[in-house]
Amino acid sequence: MLRRRGKWGSQLGFILAAAGSAVGLGNIWRFPYMTGENGGAPFVFIYILCVIIIGLPILLAELAIGRHTEKNPVGAFKNLAPRSGWFLVGLLGVATGIGILSYYAVIAGWTVGYFFKTVTGAFSTQLTAEDSKIIFETFVSNPGLVMLCLFVFIVMTAYVVRGGVSKGIERWSKILMPTLFIMLVLLTIRSVTLPGAVDGLRFYLQPDFSEITLTTFAKALGQAMFSMSLGMGAMITYGSYIGKKESLPSSAAWVCFSDLSVALISGLMIFPALFAMNISPEEGPGLVFVVLPTIFARIPGGLFFGTGFFLLLSVAALTSTISLLEVVVAFLVDQYRWSRTKAVVSMSALAFFVGIPSALSLGASTWLSNIPFVNRGFLDLFNIILGNYSLIIGSFLIALFVSYKWGIRAVVAEVRRENNIFYFRRTWAFLIRYITPIAILAIFVYIMITGNYF
Ligand code: TRP
Repeated sequence: MLRRRGKWGSQLGFILAAAGSAVGLGNIWRFPYMTGENGGAPFVFIYILCVIIIGLPILLAELAIGRHTEKNPVGAFKNLAPRSGWFLVGLLGVATGIGILSYYAVIAGWTVGYFFKTVTGAFSTQLTAEDSKIIFETFVSNPGLVMLCLFVFIVMTAYVVRGGVSKGIERWSKILMPTLFIMLVLLTIRSVTLPGAVDGLRFYLQPDFSEITLTTFAKALGQAMFSMSLGMGAMITYGSYIGKKESLPSSAAWVCFSDLSVALISGLMIFPALFAMNISPEEGPGLVFVVLPTIFARIPGGLFFGTGFFLLLSVAALTSTISLLEVVVAFLVDQYRWSRTKAVVSMSALAFFVGIPSALSLGASTWLSNIPFVNRGFLDLFNIILGNYSLIIGSFLIALFVSYKWGIRAVVAEVRRENNIFYFRRTWAFLIRYITPIAILAIFVYIMITGNYF
């Protein structure tokens, strides 16, 4: 068990793996869809604030907890606060991880499906927004197909996690993640030069602050947590594999910067095209799958770009699902001495079964597609409860834990190990002690009073 620890070869190796966990569908699929549903530019503005003021400090705290204890989230809390209830925070994280994995793999499966669709020429150069929407709806309402895609994706995830987060995936990410970034930029250039793109830019970038409510705040904060893989111990787990010499603040800053820039560029790619094609920003979880093919149809070499894009997006999703499964596996292996294989096989099977209702919730099953009272599909609901609220609660508890239980000084000592420098430690301490808990509490009180959960 000890030999498994400290496995990132270098600081760069760790940054790539953690950025791989952070950058994924959260940036390219979830961010545009949440932005579209929540009014555009004001949401983007609050999101950026949340990433820097709340996300970055929590990221650093999680990494410090992980590196100090060299444990999975449950083991880490047990180690730092023995004989107390804090380990439940870790347990909440592990459960949330399985839940997020279950529906995340559904969307990831769609990207694989869309890769094959594009290769086989399903999207013609004449493609209109209506055609694209019909293609999407036909695809996601085919129960056999979506379940097959989900299955394929879970198997890929299990395969990689089974072998340990191998050098292979690190080496791959090094080449593939920058390629994805370049493609994003090229597609963005096409998108902003489409006729009618200006309205999209306005929607995305020109905030009207009168529209901001605390519900917008809750969604933006949840999106920040989701996108940075925070609030459920993924970064505690990844932190447990960091060498003692590495600088935590600079790693955290790199991860944060790459994650934020990919999200912001994705929005720049989606919204101009969306407005140019007359698609509604409130399209929901299908948003990018409807918009993207219309861009590919209007670009020279669209087939090449389309296939390349969905392939790379699948890889980005895979580096994220790996981190979700790794948390649960590390927990079972450390705490219950399960073999890695047993943990991987049983937990990926669990994620598959829990994922089925999500997979069927975009048309394949009428009931699951529009659940009474909440008027949302199952996937959408899971995405809000687990991807938003559970992560926010987790982050809140982590902030309280490092501030008032483990202690600011202990974190500072961990960061400063081996003479590392911690420049903004006062700012960090202030944010995590006061700003994070108060902001989250205010949001929850507001939501409970108004009943505006969704
Ligand atoms: N951050 C990833 C994304 O943006 C998703 C993800 C991976 C995640 N691990 C996580 C989200 C842990 C929350 C918690 O696509």
